[in-house]
Amino acid sequence: MSEPHSATARAHPNIAFIKYWGNANDNLRLPANASLSMNLEGLYTQTTVSWFDRPDADSLILNGQPDTGAAFRRVFNFLNLLRERLNITGSARVESFNNFPMGAGIASSASSFAALTLAAVSAAGLQLSERALSALARLGSGSASRSIPAGFVEWFTGQTHEESFAESFAPPGHWDIVDVIAVVSSEHKSVISQEGHHSANTSDLQAARVAGAPERLAICKSAILSRDFEQFAEVVERDSNLMHAVMMTSRPPLFYWLPPTLMVMEQVRRWRADGLKVCYTLDAGPNIHCICAKDDADQVRQALSALSGISEVRVAGAGGAAVLVDVND
Ligand code: DP6
Repeated sequence: MSEPHSATARAHPNIAFIKYWGNANDNLRLPANASLSMNLEGLYTQTTVSWFDRPDADSLILNGQPDTGAAFRRVFNFLNLLRERLNITGSARVESFNNFPMGAGIASSASSFAALTLAAVSAAGLQLSERALSALARLGSGSASRSIPAGFVEWFTGQTHEESFAESFAPPGHWDIVDVIAVVSSEHKSVISQEGHHSANTSDLQAARVAGAPERLAICKSAILSRDFEQFAEVVERDSNLMHAVMMTSRPPLFYWLPPTLMVMEQVRRWRADGLKVCYTLDAGPNIHCICAKDDADQVRQALSALSGISEVRVAGAGGAAVLVDVND
């Protein structure tokens, strides 16, 4: 039996400043609007893919445990897409771990599918452009397209598979802002987000949110490029609020906020009025991402830790691109 061809890749999760919510094309995961994000340094998914010549079944080991459930099915479907699009034959063994715990307030699908894409493509002996990798990662999870390039990233909507990719518009060192993540302690089971993209259009507000997205994106990008925190804060909070307004008015409605979420949002607005450079953004969960100037991060972290209802606080700066790693190093 011939040796399998293996490769290992690492990718960071990302936090969106202008959100992706809803698809123009569900099959291709072409988003309803373009989005902007920052990769999160220090947090990563590391994935090894080995392709075997024999037509065996694929397998997945996730954080040290064999997985045959929902995560495996999602990976299996994605591997089928890669086999089809890249003419890869054979079966894959995928071994993946996150260096951040589940429930740390960070979704892992972006870093997982970005690392999986880079590792699977490289293990198959293929060399693809960053664009092509980003477009492929998008098929696994939309936000994964943004975890392929470095730093501050824009994901274009596109009309075709090839056109819908993400690209870096500023390197990680461009602006010293950090994401201080306040994890809301919760006994409640979190609301499932998977169907959210599909139900976005059931909200009367989605069309308005999508129509205004290009303008918000332009403002946000220009604020990042000129390091204008005031302009950045206003548009980031507005965009997050708009997405949650859509979520809350969808059928069935999706309410991700818990009482501490609202309390922290209120505090953040006060801290900003008192002179701290800080604003909030929320994804499909109750945790609050407080984006702040690096100089203010310690103060924000301490203030968040002192609030009741917050179980953990994590800090991440701007991270780099998805990379191949030599596991023998
Ligand atoms: C609220 O990329 O996780 O975090 O394509 O179904 O995997 P799938 O969705 P995903 O959606 C991200 C939604 C969001 C906003 C964002 O990151 O832009």
